[in-house]
Amino acid sequence: MKRVLLIVGGGIAAYKALDVVRLLRAEGVSVRPVMTRNAKEFITPLSLEALAGERVHDVLFEPTQESEIGHIRLARDTDLVLVCPASANLIARMAHGLADDLATTLLLATTAPIMLAPAMNVRMWEHPATQANMAMLRDRGVNVIGPDEGSMACGEVGMGRLSSPEVICRSAMATLSRHDTLKGRRIMVTAGPTREPLDPVRFLSNHSSGKQGYAIAEALSARGAEVVLVSGPVSLPLPAGVTRVLVETAEQMLHACEAQLPVDAGVFTAAVSDWRAKALSGQKIKKNGAPPSLELAENPDILAQISRHAQRPSLVVGFAAETETVLEHATAKRLRKGCDWLVANDVSKNVFGADNNAVTLITAQGTEEWPLMRKNAVADRLADRVAQFFTLS
Ligand code: CTP
Repeated sequence: MKRVLLIVGGGIAAYKALDVVRLLRAEGVSVRPVMTRNAKEFITPLSLEALAGERVHDVLFEPTQESEIGHIRLARDTDLVLVCPASANLIARMAHGLADDLATTLLLATTAPIMLAPAMNVRMWEHPATQANMAMLRDRGVNVIGPDEGSMACGEVGMGRLSSPEVICRSAMATLSRHDTLKGRRIMVTAGPTREPLDPVRFLSNHSSGKQGYAIAEALSARGAEVVLVSGPVSLPLPAGVTRVLVETAEQMLHACEAQLPVDAGVFTAAVSDWRAKALSGQKIKKNGAPPSLELAENPDILAQISRHAQRPSLVVGFAAETETVLEHATAKRLRKGCDWLVANDVSKNVFGADNNAVTLITAQGTEEWPLMRKNAVADRLADRVAQFFTLS
């Protein structure tokens, strides 16, 4: 039985959480309710308990509640945390990592996917503070449903209405069902730039932030895959449940990847430096009149080597960074590298370090243009496609 931890925030829309509970229960989902202090100003714990068939949890340190089920277990024993309605205050506390009541403590302690259904006055929703908090949460992979546009209890009209309980329930069910679509699969992901030393203080590298690769590792792991992330130097937090192997150079990345074989799939997002210094200087290269000439040697092509490896994964996905005639170059690159799918993006459009990405998926069947979306959304869509590949194969 799937489990949802439902956090009800304070707001006039709190009564709609009762409908959400009813709908989730009808889908056979068990619902464990948590209320903030403000939520109790709008609905009673008793109505929530009656519908959920379980007592409401509301205090952080209360001897009887803690001995029955501690807050860390509450946070862990669930497949999804649904915050409905998510008030501006709760969103702000969550974005800033506060843990000043049971609800925010659970949000901080959980490793389950989190889904927010915001509801508030239109001005509060549009306020830059709320928008900045939402951007922060989206970046961390929090799913957001709504809010919708319409007239509100306060008499104003605009964005801020809670999405309908039916839509919220459907989104929750979709997240719950993809939770284990990749269970039992081992997947390797490369990410970030590589660094090729010239001497003890200098190196050749590029602008890759690693964001897209890290988001993909996270999305695959969220679907139950065992994910190994072979990463160059980046400053990103390690997604929950993912194992990371840190490397610096292309050669180290290749060896780290080979050491992970066999895997079911490999997703190669790393921006591997194509060249390294032919001879590495053991000492810092000094200025002595003329600038030194740099002789380069070609690095191994990790994607191409894994694609042609005796232990080739069943699905190999490459990425292509192009600045011109994207489709043409990327289609040729897919064949040259021997990978099954190639995700092409136009890096002339400020992709490095950005949060959005517009990509084209190229497979043997043809090409598919995906609209401009957040890197997290690209990752989700790609992870769903990977899951589909294994279901169909
Ligand atoms: N790649 C790799 N090892 C390399 C170079 C690239 O594994 N030495 C992988 C990347 O991770 C990516 C794909 O190959 O999945 C394409 O990378 P890209 O930089 O677009 O291609 P290049 O091979 O460098 O081709 P070119 O520079 O000619 O566009």
